[in-house]
Amino acid sequence: MTYEPFEYRGDELCCEAVPLARIASEVGTPVYVYSRGELERAYRAFDAALEGIPHRVCYAVKANSSLGILAVLVRLGAGADIVSGGELVRWLKAGGDAGKVVFSGVGKTERELRMALDAGIGAFNVESAEEVDVLDRVARGAGVRARIALRVNPDVDPQTHPYISTGLKQNKFGVAMGEARALLGRAQKLAGLEVVGVDCHIGSQLTKTSPFTDAIARLVSLVQALTGDGIRIEHVDVGGGLGIDYGKGDGLPPTPAEYGAAVRDALAPLTALGVTLYTEPGRVIVGRAGALVTQVLYRKRNEAKHFTIVDAAMNDLTRPALYGSFHPMKPVARPGRPAITTDVVGPICETGDFFARDRELPELAPGELLWIGAAGAYGSAMASNYNTRPRAPEVLVAGDRYTVIRDRETYEQLLAGERVG
Ligand code: LLP
Repeated sequence: MTYEPFEYRGDELCCEAVPLARIASEVGTPVYVYSRGELERAYRAFDAALEGIPHRVCYAVKANSSLGILAVLVRLGAGADIVSGGELVRWLKAGGDAGKVVFSGVGKTERELRMALDAGIGAFNVESAEEVDVLDRVARGAGVRARIALRVNPDVDPQTHPYISTGLKQNKFGVAMGEARALLGRAQKLAGLEVVGVDCHIGSQLTKTSPFTDAIARLVSLVQALTGDGIRIEHVDVGGGLGIDYGKGDGLPPTPAEYGAAVRDALAPLTALGVTLYTEPGRVIVGRAGALVTQVLYRKRNEAKHFTIVDAAMNDLTRPALYGSFHPMKPVARPGRPAITTDVVGPICETGDFFARDRELPELAPGELLWIGAAGAYGSAMASNYNTRPRAPEVLVAGDRYTVIRDRETYEQLLAGERVG
């Protein structure tokens, strides 16, 4: 059984020991609520699953980059996978160690490369021959050597949503397997670079281990070939991507323990080479720790449908609109009433502004609260101000206490920096 951080106590849905209704009345809605206990449990479970091989867990900051969340992971000893200068600023501000940072992404700017060199990050996951040359030049200009891992595109099908598949040859990520050896051979001779690793990330919300192990098998062959070329590889970064259960009832993803066992086996041929495993998990660390709590505004029924209109919208949680994703839902007050079939929608003027379609839910009246679960990853981090909606506050619960780790945005903050011309 997985630990459930959001459970009814009596008739009230709570996060750990705090009733969500209390948070909603004190902080307002919509609001993101996270369980610190679940965050810690998920990180430790993932880390423990890799026990037995030298490894580093570089949390994918993009999944949830709020300082209060990062600070919890920093205290647990996490490293970070960043994809922008902004994420580096956040990680350092949360007290994170620059030496444990890897920097991924196909389009790092010179300014971002320089920032990361100045901070002394652990490694750059470089994704193209042109980036190799730019990083070499920027590093020489800074009088340092940049440690690089080459991101390769292993061309395996992760069997996930096409928007979050990244390791197929039609995707923009990494360099082709066939080019990797020659490129690393060239990179090794550049004065501004030190080749330390190989890297891949094949996609997100993966629900099987076989795409991971297929990709790793290709990395293993590459590392063996590179060793033959006299290039010593210190670490193999297998990216992130392990899926979580969104409660749709269509099968469970592998547990971290199953994932860890599969990854360890696939990497076994490299054990003798003393290679360290790097991973970049995001969703599996924060996903189930977070929920979006929203209040029902109105209901209506037309010829075709029943709609439940809530005060959260696609700007707060974009995943259903963008990927058609399923999120679990429950009324915050335990229902003693029959279920209806309803579309849960937000106030934004787009048909894509929905959280669920044709969902069986106990009918909720205006003023009642709805829990939208498994929203800790790619929820607040992807929030926007569309429709000039201030971004929702975020609350971190620990036992019977909670802390507001991000205030609701104000209209003044929203308009700061704009002028009439
Ligand atoms: N490493 C790299 C290089 C990545 O691009 C990503 C995610 C990760 C690690 C972390 O993947 P995770 O363990 O979280 O699956 N917005 C989408 C997900 C986009 C993922 C992008 N890259 C969603 O809401 O499903």
